Order: sequence, then structure tokens, then C-alpha cells
Amino acid sequence: MLLLNTEDARAAAQRRLPRIFFDYIDGAASTEATARANEADFARWRLEQRVMTGAPKPNLATTFLGETHGLPFMLGPVGFLGLYRGNGEVQAARAAAAAGVPFCLSSFSIASINRVAREAPGRNMFQLYVLTDRALGAEMLAAARQAGVETIFLTVDCAITGIRERDVRNGFRSLTSLTPSLLARLARKPGWCLDMLRHGKPRVEALATHPEFGNSVLAQAAALSSRIDQSLSWDDLAWVRENWPGKLVVKGLLCADDARRAADAGVSAIVISNHGGRQLDGASSTIDRLPEIAAAAHGLELLIDSGFRRGADIVKALALGASGVLLGRAYAYALAANGGTGVNQIISALKAEIEIALALMGCPDIPTLRADGARYVRPA
Ligand SMILES: Cc1cc2nc3c(=O)[nH]c(=O)nc-3n(C[C@H](O)[C@H](O)[C@H](O)COP(=O)(O)O)c2cc1C
Repeated sequence: MLLLNTEDARAAAQRRLPRIFFDYIDGAASTEATARANEADFARWRLEQRVMTGAPKPNLATTFLGETHGLPFMLGPVGFLGLYRGNGEVQAARAAAAAGVPFCLSSFSIASINRVAREAPGRNMFQLYVLTDRALGAEMLAAARQAGVETIFLTVDCAITGIRERDVRNGFRSLTSLTPSLLARLARKPGWCLDMLRHGKPRVEALATHPEFGNSVLAQAAALSSRIDQSLSWDDLAWVRENWPGKLVVKGLLCADDARRAADAGVSAIVISNHGGRQLDGASSTIDRLPEIAAAAHGLELLIDSGFRRGADIVKALALGASGVLLGRAYAYALAANGGTGVNQIISALKAEIEIALALMGCPDIPTLRADGARYVRPA
């Protein structure tokens, strides 16, 4: 299967996945305006074409989160990868490791962090929500530590879930078991059904010792979501610190004041994110807010996600102050469409686009792009 870009992957994912899962990946909050803005607002910036620079073939290696990686992006946390493709978390993590980039496992995953570490050794990271059930949160962090994880992402923009109308219509969160109507809808995608049957009934492995969460993945998903602590505050970072001695990245900030607050709290880095437009519909795109956050947050490392579909999008974010980019839907579509091979294909496509863009701008490497961003990227 030829996946030249994220649009190819999205179309192929739509063909293969039951609608309830495609819509869960593709959909966003309410009118989905923020999700559209995330992609559209990259057009507010232009790359600077330069010729006859004699620059060598660009080198894409770069440092973020304290380590040097092969590419300036990583695979961010996306829930339930194992529902889009059998053993999806492991397949995605293997693709990341092969490309020399980190993979961050969502705490809402089919595979446990232990399985990912065992079957896909690489730079694996773990994402956590603050749960009302603090003991379960501590258990997840302990499992991550045992699996050799050094960096966690604490997601803070999801204490209350946005209204995702496609999910409401499809019953994504309200269904807790396989109803006849859902079974009939799933059966329309036999390729997906066979893949799931081959890999056994999907269950959230991290909840294997917690029967109180139910015995179907739908019940587990609903029960986990209902335990996200809606009263999350900055004070909760103290709890995380007590339970996590490693690097702490706070994910889901969108304004300069919050970034300053995170810097004061001494976190390792933040992810500028609006959760791919899945939370506050009407919020700014992340690329729109990156320059002001970069100006305000001296010394704080900035990662970014939401809406990244093309290599040029990544180039723009690096020039505007980000040290690295997290992919979300871009790789989730590819995984659904073509498994780990699909993720490899999308990583390669983005890599080629970044390489060509840098070459056509006469930029030799990512550190130069980041240090001299205004030379390479300009307002439209
Ligand atoms: C299907 C799906 C599930 C997600 N699950 C999680 C999650 O479990 N934890 C988390 O921190 N972010 C989650 N996110 C948000 C992503 O980490 C990321 O912020 C977002 O996808 C970026 O937007 P993009 O998909 O437009 O690139 C999810 C996103 C999608 C699309």
C-alpha cells in the first residue's frame, strides 16, 4: 500500500476501520474549528527559498528532552492504538525505534508499558492523566519505572473531556459492551475484524488486576475516563513528583502565563497542545501561540503538537522556537491503514519533506534552523 502522505493514510484508515474508531481518531470537539485551525494556520508562515548556497545534504539529527534523536519529531501519546491495529502500540513503538525517535505510550492503551518495553526496546516514554484513584496512578508510574521509562508526559488539558459529537453519535464512550447494533457496524469492516480476532479480545493490559474496571475494553475505557481528576490543579504536580523521580513533561499548555507557571514549577519541558482540537473548541491553533510562548518562557524547553501533517509544518515549528514535534493523528491513521509499515512510511515521508525543505532553504541542519529561525521562516 502506497502511503505518500498523511492524507493517503487518513483515507486508507477510513476505508479499513469501523466508523466508531475512525471517528474517534479523526474527530474533535464540537464544531471541530480548532482542529481545522491547527492545520490551516501553518499557512500563516512561509519558508524562505534560497539558491546556490552550496549547503551539504541536511542532517536531521537533533536534541530534545536531553537526548539526541535521529529526527526532530516523535510519536506522541494516542489512546487505544491496539484497537486500530492488532498489537498496535508495539508496532508503533517498533517503527519509532527503527527511526531513532521516542514513542510515548498513552495510559489508555491496550498493551502495557511492560509489553512495549519488552517487544519494542527503544526510547519509550509514558503518558499519565492525574486520576482520582491516586493509587492506580502510582501503580502506572511504578510500572513505567520498572519498564525503564525515564520521561513521563503529564497531560493536563483533558481534566474535563470536550464534547466530541461524532463519538456521542457513535456511542464511543456510552457503550460498555458489544450490542447487536455495534456488532453489525463492526462486521462491515471484515479486514479489521479478522485482525482483532487474530490478536485476541482487546483489553487494557494495565488493568489486568483491576476487575472493577469491567471486562470489555469499552467498559474499561469508560471507567478510566470517569476517573480522570476534574479538579486538577498546579498543586497536583507535587503528587507526581513524589511518585516520579524522572523527567516530567507537562502536556497541554496553550498560553504564555501557563508556560511561565510550568517553568517556575521546574518541569523538564512542556508540550504546547490543544489535544488536536479535541478539547476546547474555539481555542487557538498551537502554531499561532508558539511565538509568544517562546518569547515568554525563557529557558523552558518547548515541544509542540496538534495539526502536524507535513514536513514543512515541522520545519516551521522548529524555526519558531520548538525543540521537537509530537505526531498524533498522522501516525495513528498510518498505523490503522498499514500497521507498523504504515508508520514507517509516514515517518519516511515526513523525513524526506523536512530534508528537501532544508536543502531548498540552504539550511544544513536542525540546530542552525532553530538558532536562526527568522532567516528561514517568515510571516505570510
Ligand atoms: C485518537 C486520539 C487519542 C488520543 N489519546 C491521547 C491520550 O491518551 N493521552 C494524551 O495525552 N493525548 C492523547 N491524544 C492527543 C495527542 O497526544 C495529541 O495531542 C494530538 O493528537 C495532536 O493533534 P494531531 O492529532 O492533530 O496531531 C489523542 C489524540 C487522538 C487523535
